[in-house]
Amino acid sequence: MDNNIELKKSAAEAAVEEVKDGMIVGLGTGSTARFAIEKLANKIKEGKLKNIYGIPTSKRTEHLAIQLGIPVLSLNELFSQNQKLRTQNERLIDITIDGADEVDANLNLIKGGGGALLREKVIAQNTKSFLVVIDESKLSNKLGEKFFVPIEVLQFALESEKAFLESLNAKVRLRKDENGKPYVTDEGNFILDVEFGIIENPAKLNEILNERAGIVEHGIFLNKLVDKVYCSSNSGMKILYAS
Ligand code: 5RP
Repeated sequence: MDNNIELKKSAAEAAVEEVKDGMIVGLGTGSTARFAIEKLANKIKEGKLKNIYGIPTSKRTEHLAIQLGIPVLSLNELFSQNQKLRTQNERLIDITIDGADEVDANLNLIKGGGGALLREKVIAQNTKSFLVVIDESKLSNKLGEKFFVPIEVLQFALESEKAFLESLNAKVRLRKDENGKPYVTDEGNFILDVEFGIIENPAKLNEILNERAGIVEHGIFLNKLVDKVYCSSNSGMKILYAS
């Protein structure tokens, strides 16, 4: 296994130690989250964890979880089964473990390299403890140093949102699938991969993007969504806490 893969695995597996019997667990998407899902499945199989339900963040993750024997619920099923708590607007997912493409010094994130940012953000917003698992190559001082921002747009609004983003001086690319066709998300939208350069103010950019009706969601996850980042490096594991 190459070094980065080893580091991803150890961050993911360390985060799984926070999962306890009876928890509802948000299952992330991507190569790092996959290690967490595999570890969780092993612990369930070995009887070390009981009464766990997973809430997948993508169709891909849902297939994987089912294949590995993790009982899954959709978010809608979870809310239907918790009539009492839902009226209190309580977050019904105990822990979510998910990867990230970039993490800045204030623990703001860029996500969506794997195309699942919309469901991932919905799950994060419904989670009591959102754990991000990365290897240290994902750390940066400011967002945009290492990764573009994936932006999910309505197919209907593709050209107008492209033009809007270009008017912000960004470089915009339509994401393609392995057949060279536009990549279509689980919710039937397109993704624009957008280079803004260094993002000095992620909160402001979040606000600007949120105002556009044609932008369904974007890959900037502000640190208020994040509880901890498990970051593994050759010199060991660090847990970073969002303040
Ligand atoms: C998927 C994501 C992933 O968490 C992100 O792309 C990191 O992926 P990986 O763990 O494979 O490096 O946001 O939409």
